[in-house]
Amino acid sequence: MEIVICEDAAEIGRIAASKIIDLVRRKPTAAIGLATGSSPLGIYAELAHAVARGELDMSRAHGFALDEYVGIELEHPQSYYSVIHREVVERLSMDPARVHVPDGRAADLHSACDAYEEAIEQAGGVDLQIVGIGSNGHIGFNEPTSSFGSRTRVKALAPQTRADNARFFDSLDQVPTLCLTQGLGTIMDAREVVLVAQGEHKADAIAAAVEGPMAAVMPASVLQGHRYATVIIDEAAASKL
Ligand code: GLP
Repeated sequence: MEIVICEDAAEIGRIAASKIIDLVRRKPTAAIGLATGSSPLGIYAELAHAVARGELDMSRAHGFALDEYVGIELEHPQSYYSVIHREVVERLSMDPARVHVPDGRAADLHSACDAYEEAIEQAGGVDLQIVGIGSNGHIGFNEPTSSFGSRTRVKALAPQTRADNARFFDSLDQVPTLCLTQGLGTIMDAREVVLVAQGEHKADAIAAAVEGPMAAVMPASVLQGHRYATVIIDEAAASKL
């Protein structure tokens, strides 16, 4: 794992975005693994600037979101479908037909998960996966005790995750209890993984993920076994390393 400690969120965004810019210039049809949450917003802002300046063309790139809630409408502003389209597809002028989000509205959720794995495979695999980290160490929605070999599947959200994400909803009881998420095995298949985090509230999870034992109770620790994983964080998130 390569650890990069930055001065602020803007620097995290610049360094992580430069990896994507280099990749897409080299391979315009690259598949990018997209994450929601506040952590990657600086990356998307940097990429949007590059697109606006005509320095980056994302129109042929593929996108695969990490996860989605089960049981909320696609049009709900907090569905990850909406978030990814609002924050990423529109701002980066990506082709919506090339951007995929697991289908949390499917009648058969298990088939939807299998179809998602297949779509990733058909695109030739993910070239670069962006991930944030939950305060309990989850990546995507792979909550503690997720198996390191897991694939895209239905998961129950941990109480901590529902509480953390309640800020995006009117009340805690509106936060879905189930989700679909790429598995840890799916994430590990990406050719490169970039984890971004900022703030003191991520410091324990970062220390455990980077320096603790590789263990299912700390899902992000799986990345210690990835050949090309980069952790790009600010001083506060690095404060317990
Ligand atoms: C959600 C997402 C994760 C994300 C996490 C952290 O739970 N499913 O992919 O990493 O939030 O969010 P934030 O970056 O806002 O702290």
